[in-house]
Amino acid sequence: MSAPCAVGLLGGGVIGGGWAARFLLGGTDVRLYDPDPEAERKLGEMLELARSALGRLSAVPLPPEGTLSFVPTPAAAAEGVELVQESAPERLELKQALLAEACVAAGPDVLIASSTSGLRPTALAAEMGRPERFLVAHPFNPVYLLPLVELCGGARTAPEVIERARVLYGSLGMAPLVVRKEIDGFVADRMLEALWREALWLVNDGVATAAEVDDAIRLGAGLRWSFMGTFLTYRIAGGEAGMRHFMAQFGPALKWPWTKLTDVPDLTDELIDEIVAQSDEQAEGRSVRELEQLRDDCLVSVLQALRAHDIGAGAVLARHEAELADGVSAPVMRDDDDLSRPLALHGTEVAPDWVDYNGHAHESRYLQVFGDTSDALFAYLGIDRAYLMTGSYFTVETHLSHLLEALLGDRLSVTTQVLDWDERRLHVFHSLWREDDDALLATAEQLYLHVDTAARRAAPAATTVLERVRRIAEAHASLPRPERAGRSIAISH
Ligand SMILES: NC(=O)c1ccc[n+]([C@@H]2O[C@H](COP(=O)([O-])OP(=O)(O)OC[C@H]3O[C@@H](n4cnc5c(N)ncnc54)[C@H](O)[C@@H]3O)[C@@H](O)[C@H]2O)c1
Repeated sequence: MSAPCAVGLLGGGVIGGGWAARFLLGGTDVRLYDPDPEAERKLGEMLELARSALGRLSAVPLPPEGTLSFVPTPAAAAEGVELVQESAPERLELKQALLAEACVAAGPDVLIASSTSGLRPTALAAEMGRPERFLVAHPFNPVYLLPLVELCGGARTAPEVIERARVLYGSLGMAPLVVRKEIDGFVADRMLEALWREALWLVNDGVATAAEVDDAIRLGAGLRWSFMGTFLTYRIAGGEAGMRHFMAQFGPALKWPWTKLTDVPDLTDELIDEIVAQSDEQAEGRSVRELEQLRDDCLVSVLQALRAHDIGAGAVLARHEAELADGVSAPVMRDDDDLSRPLALHGTEVAPDWVDYNGHAHESRYLQVFGDTSDALFAYLGIDRAYLMTGSYFTVETHLSHLLEALLGDRLSVTTQVLDWDERRLHVFHSLWREDDDALLATAEQLYLHVDTAARRAAPAATTVLERVRRIAEAHASLPRPERAGRSIAISH
């Protein structure tokens, strides 16, 4: 299923803003109601973060962005949309009234969902008309990067509504987890609350500081959790004897017990002051925006690493990328394209993990950018998945010149000039530009050889491809030859 055409959002704070970013960047129009006069500014800042993170996350281009409109009432947000997603403050009466108002305006088939972290759907739907179309869809911050969304129906939610919601959120690249029973806190927040309660006790009892508690998670179990969770991790911890042995070995400890169970420390002024002071120390003067940027940078790197192993959130990302690649094909040359200048087929941004010990993009990243440009060129010539079954261009020679540094965050674009061609060979010259000031950062001259992919031997390209190559080459013949074309490496004395 493709992403919905339009959704209505009630509340545009941390979570509503994250939903807006996920929907808009997934190509869905958003109608947002939020009484906060600052909502537009806050959302604009979050959208910038999301564009930067999602732009770097995947090589597959995102669909064209949806349109955002701010609307004056909850009813206006619910008009003409496929889903209403409520993300207002966590107060039962406020949410009940808001959802009831939106429901009156929403069409009968519109899904109505709440982002609540722990309120039960049956209670939330108490004031609502047609409660069978209501469910909780509980996401995680930042909504535009983390795939998990817990779906929980209430006593009157129709089973087909859960199924529709599962498909809809899945179409956004999310991983819906259907909660089997209606409980407070659903699955994830029940576990997170237990951890949070223990963390508060450890600080309250002077056992550890806030920073030490965080280290105890992020330097150990936290690293494992992102790909194996709890049960799979403990299966390995049981050694060759596996889960049964682990249960036998560590089961009795649960009865001692090490933990404070459901006791909660009194949140006295002293405890709160202490936690706030320790938290300020941990932040080391960094603003929330800087910490959010750091969080997103790390999440992008973790997601990319997990994608390589096709596990956890990385597997969700890989699946969504495959769907996007099917739906959004790279541009193919059209009859009326202007070929009088070098082709502009690829753009990207210097990501944090591209930067090496010299503070600029590592040399392998330049080759990556030119390689991605080659792929865009081949797609432009009409080489699609079907064509690749029989033929493809392979790169047989590259001469790369580094002229200026590509620094973190630089927006890059590449232009490509065709220098020469025959039935089997294609000779091109790429120029890598920094978009901000049009500075030329690097060039790459490349020779591609067309190959019969079944026989793994050089073979002529298809006539449709050659016809496109011919048209570009003829148009580019009148361009000046790039100054660095044909250079060899030498020290001139
Ligand atoms: N913050 C999280 O990590 C997190 C995670 C998952 C779910 N949630 C849930 O998401 C919901 C929103 O939480 P948040 O963290 O985004 O809070 P938030 O305070 O950042 O945002 C709430 C937004 O709702 C707006 N608002 C206030 N009254 C409103 C009304 N009557 N109608 C519409 N909007 C109104 C506020 O102006 C604000 O922009 C809560 O139910 C919360 O439990 C939060």
